[in-house]
Amino acid sequence: MYQFKDKTMTNTEFKIDFFACKNSKGTSILEKVNAFQEHIAKHEEMGLNVYIKPPMLSGSGREVAVLDRFIGKPKQMLMFGSDNYLGAVKSVASVNISLEVIKSHGVGSGGVPLHSGTNIYQNQLEKALANLAGFDETMLFSSGFTANTGAILGLARADNLLIYDKLNSASLLDGAILSGATIKRYSHNDMSSLENILSENFEQYGGGMMIVTDGVFSIDGDIANIPQMINLASKYNALLLIDEAHATGVIGDKGAGTLSHFGVTNTENIIITGSLSKAFGLVGGYITASKKIIDYLRIYARSNMYSSSLPPNICMSAMEVIKYMQESDAIEKVTANSIYLKEKLVAMGYNLLDTSTPIIPVIIGDEYILTNLSKDLFDQGIYVNYIFPPAVPPRLSRLRISVISSHTKADLNRLLSVMERVGKKYKLITG
Ligand SMILES: Cc1ncc(COP(=O)(O)O)c(C=O)c1O
Repeated sequence: MYQFKDKTMTNTEFKIDFFACKNSKGTSILEKVNAFQEHIAKHEEMGLNVYIKPPMLSGSGREVAVLDRFIGKPKQMLMFGSDNYLGAVKSVASVNISLEVIKSHGVGSGGVPLHSGTNIYQNQLEKALANLAGFDETMLFSSGFTANTGAILGLARADNLLIYDKLNSASLLDGAILSGATIKRYSHNDMSSLENILSENFEQYGGGMMIVTDGVFSIDGDIANIPQMINLASKYNALLLIDEAHATGVIGDKGAGTLSHFGVTNTENIIITGSLSKAFGLVGGYITASKKIIDYLRIYARSNMYSSSLPPNICMSAMEVIKYMQESDAIEKVTANSIYLKEKLVAMGYNLLDTSTPIIPVIIGDEYILTNLSKDLFDQGIYVNYIFPPAVPPRLSRLRISVISSHTKADLNRLLSVMERVGKKYKLITG
């Protein structure tokens, strides 16, 4: 059992000042590295290093075994921190096809796409992903992160304007920084804030603007106002890029994503990026768009052009997961589980922001309380993610609970009873 060594340590002393190391004065690279060592040593001393997760000893499912490094023993935990929304990591069909294809084709693709790295399985998956979202074409990447950087860097240049929701995921921002384009950010999902930026810049940029948003926001779990964004994009002649990493397989008809969720069928001037690492339970990423945009990006998205392609088994497993989304009741189950959990947590008095997906933010606010509470959850065998600044504003430190389709009612109730206990202990809820 590990404990804070100094129970009287204040919130200010505890402050998780991630940027203090990176932005420390001076040019010495190693000084920054050394400052970070001191920073994490402080966390270790307190009994919790928030930068290290206990390594999993089992595959990712509703229940996992992790190594409790403080006592050096395995610990069984209920998993409420995984993006494996449909339980597809262990889907029998996905695992079996991977094993078959690995035996016949080996484990790697052997090269970058324009050299020896293109195979028929990638082509098949590209077609299936394009069909799922209702577009012409798809191109694959080795991760969702590189799909995002590839899409933005490929499309934008220094004389373009990229208009970002403040809560967009990190890789979208990295792509924008690499492109050298001007970046302006609007308040989260706030359409009048977005329109202000579009109208103020329309004269200068004309068709050179692109609105960029998560479809389902990865930390808040809410859904972008896509119908209004489409109207604004068309009014101001802008492109619209939607990151569907947490939407595909979770919302829309048979997991088709945000456009399907809103019943949008006109996909002109829309670009989708996605990940195979969330509901697909695999690894990889993709861009889906019109044929002419994909033709262009196959050459200009550097993270595709200069990076080895996905191996055949991943492609074939992803095809099986698309079938699984369409034929199983996994999406209905994860939705029902999320609704049940959210209703009960709200009834207890927790603030869950505006989530309407299996991503459930539970606002704790105070970083110090969040750290203590996270340790309590760990001790109780509940695995959740805890999100501190700078990933979220200081007042909005939170637990990020993720629900999966294979959670049973008993699993959900166990989480709820622990949440009730810790909520009362830290005076986050009454009763
Ligand atoms: C919204 C979003 N987009 C993209 C990514 C990156 O995807 P991948 O894990 O496939 O690199 C993530 C996080 O992992 C994410 O949350």
